[in-house]
Amino acid sequence: MIKKIFCGEINKNFLNKEIILYGWVQNYRNLGKLIFINLKDREGIIQAVFKPEYKIAYNIANTLRNNFCVKIKGKIVKRAKNNNNIKLSTGEIEIIVFDIFILNKSKSLPIDINMHNTEEIRLKYRYLDLRQFKMIKNLKLRSNIMFYIRNFLEKNKFLNIETPILTNSTLEGSRDYLVPSRITKHHFYALPQSPQIFKQLLMISGLDRYYQIAKCFRDEDLRSDRQPEFTQIDIEMSFIKSNIFRLFIEKMIFYIWKKIKNVSLNKFKVFTFQESMEIFGTDKPDLRNKLKLVNLSNFFIKTNKKRIVSINIKNKYISNIKLKDLNKYILYINKYGTNDLNVFKVYKNKLINLFNKKNTYFLNLNQYETQNIIIKNNAYDNDIIFIGTEYLYDNISSMGYLREKLGKDLNLIKDKIYYPLWIIDYPLFKKDKIGNLVSMNHPFTSPKDYSVNNLYNLLEQNPQQIISNSYDLVINGYEIGSGSMRINNYKIQKKIFNILKISQINQQKNFGFFLEALKFGTPPHIGIALGLDRLVMLLANTNNIRDVIAFPKTTSANCLLTHAPNKIDNYLLKDYGLSYIF
Ligand code: AMO
Repeated sequence: MIKKIFCGEINKNFLNKEIILYGWVQNYRNLGKLIFINLKDREGIIQAVFKPEYKIAYNIANTLRNNFCVKIKGKIVKRAKNNNNIKLSTGEIEIIVFDIFILNKSKSLPIDINMHNTEEIRLKYRYLDLRQFKMIKNLKLRSNIMFYIRNFLEKNKFLNIETPILTNSTLEGSRDYLVPSRITKHHFYALPQSPQIFKQLLMISGLDRYYQIAKCFRDEDLRSDRQPEFTQIDIEMSFIKSNIFRLFIEKMIFYIWKKIKNVSLNKFKVFTFQESMEIFGTDKPDLRNKLKLVNLSNFFIKTNKKRIVSINIKNKYISNIKLKDLNKYILYINKYGTNDLNVFKVYKNKLINLFNKKNTYFLNLNQYETQNIIIKNNAYDNDIIFIGTEYLYDNISSMGYLREKLGKDLNLIKDKIYYPLWIIDYPLFKKDKIGNLVSMNHPFTSPKDYSVNNLYNLLEQNPQQIISNSYDLVINGYEIGSGSMRINNYKIQKKIFNILKISQINQQKNFGFFLEALKFGTPPHIGIALGLDRLVMLLANTNNIRDVIAFPKTTSANCLLTHAPNKIDNYLLKDYGLSYIF
């Protein structure tokens, strides 16, 4: 073991001890007789004092500037009481320096690490940005989380196995990053969108329990919780049912929260995909937001088969909003397709339409409709009820968006409370924009509880009806993980590829090896991948994924530090058999 004492770790136990410290000069004060510097390293700051009696050190201290990297040797002493600094963990002690060595000088920094900088500057000088304690704290948290996860999984007999980065397309549904091969001209590797196929192959190999903290690469539109290169805690396991497997993952999450936050999470709630869409208008509900959608479709005759949905806001939540300001939600939800949002105030068993929108069938509510709306929403005087037609977009609806917006605006979402839940039973397929069937999850997801023959017929006749044995883990509105029971039957896997209209040639070219592998005694197996970055975001209380990644990319997938992606000289491209066509 290499012993190391960090500046921030020094405490009263070191009193009167002589020690060596390394760090960066955070600031210096020359009071003539005494020179003070704050010496900083990753764990904290300690005050160092230079006295004229240690002449050489004192003279060197006179030349110090901020951010010089130094080594000091000295004795830890108590500070005079009136010199204590309660802002520092080491505020009651200081080091009297006998010797100092300037290990390296520093130019003045292009970034003020104690102040707000633009994100562009922070990313350009990321290595300096990472000197901030709040950034160091996030990286330490990330490191701890990985440690506990490894610990938990190793104790449960999981093997840490690495899988290739230079590989073929893994069909996770996004675009691939491609790498040209120099040796086999005009051929490309794809970077893995996940280790999905390899971990399944490891189950066929009989390794039984696998995990990997795996880098994944996806060329997709980026958001505050998405990076082109991100990390998964990837897990696969043989011979276990999905409800038991989910409980196991639940235990792992519970363990992490206990270790990191000392919080005991409640048992995870479970909703089917359909329930979640009905109640919350999304498959990633933030349960801190108690608002629910109420289905009113039965009270209105409509032709376009869309649900009519209401959201009731209790009077106590509205009190600090002016009623006329509620108008803005009509505009807000318009962009998601609902152009008939009506806002009612409940008063003396009546519904008063606040903005009296013309041409909507909610305008002239009769007594029966009014009563039913009030009862179904469990509404009381001065509550506000929003009613509108629901439009669906990729697992979130217009009214789901409204629920989220109201939850945020009305301050219903409290920090530092965690509501983990499972969404289960996703449909196996969904339709894409042009009406083709695509996998809701990925094509290796097993259908739920069907006999092989029944399933085969259903796949032929009505694939959209099939429910999959799949689950997402959601915490506070973030999709933290996703997984499923896998198909272990060659015939079914092939049928799914056919339904997805993957041509026989492409099936053979891209997945021939995998289809063949399924024929050699493939065990029943199951797995999940948790987004490590998102997990750290939650535990670090940030909603920006870049805060928890040492060297992240911008939302346009650029690295401002290294300037990747970069142009390549033509002569290098020729090596790959490629050349600029522009
Ligand atoms: P999926 O594609 O749902 O499943 O990914 C699993 C989890 O990875 C995280 N994630 C991301 N995090 C940051 N940036 C991204 N671009 C990004 N994309 C995904 C999310 C997500 O829940 N092979 C399957 C898992 C399995 O079936 O075992 C898979 O990759 O937290």
